Amino acid sequence: MTHDFAFLRSNAPKAEDSLSKKRKAKLSAAARKELELAAERVMKNAHAPYSNFHVGSAVLLTNGKVFTGCNVENASYGMTNCAERTAIFSAVAQLGPDIEIQAVAVTNDHGVACSPCGACRQVIYEFGPNATIYFQGAKGPKQAHITELLPEGFRLK
Ligand code: THU
Repeated sequence: MTHDFAFLRSNAPKAEDSLSKKRKAKLSAAARKELELAAERVMKNAHAPYSNFHVGSAVLLTNGKVFTGCNVENASYGMTNCAERTAIFSAVAQLGPDIEIQAVAVTNDHGVACSPCGACRQVIYEFGPNATIYFQGAKGPKQAHITELLPEGFRLK
């Protein structure tokens, strides 16, 4: 037996329409490449003697500035800071908290799939609720809106 749920559909504009328009404000291919290269370059500074997995990240702010970061591990493993958070915290330390993240690029030295971890997604969302993330997916380079990676992100205001 099939059920017709057509009555649930509406012609009213969807709330996410304005969000999907914003999502289309993409970086040019050249700007994306530049961001990825900045992430590649900072990877060499990673402190990753435990995982041997070097990660680099570059964060583009809406004011055009780029901040980079690498992963910084610790003998007490849980103290590790991911590349993305290193880059974002560096931006805040330099410019203060009134920054907005437009895009984040993430690279690793193994050429394997590597999207931001859950903690980094929440930190990206704090400063970039409309950010685009460029990363290595299971089937190659990928881009995603932060709300695709982190639905229902937590906000206090
Ligand atoms: N790591 C990052 O820096 N960013 C990611 O997006 C995923 C994981 C780091 C944390 C740790 O130093 C190493 O990669 C292995 O998990």
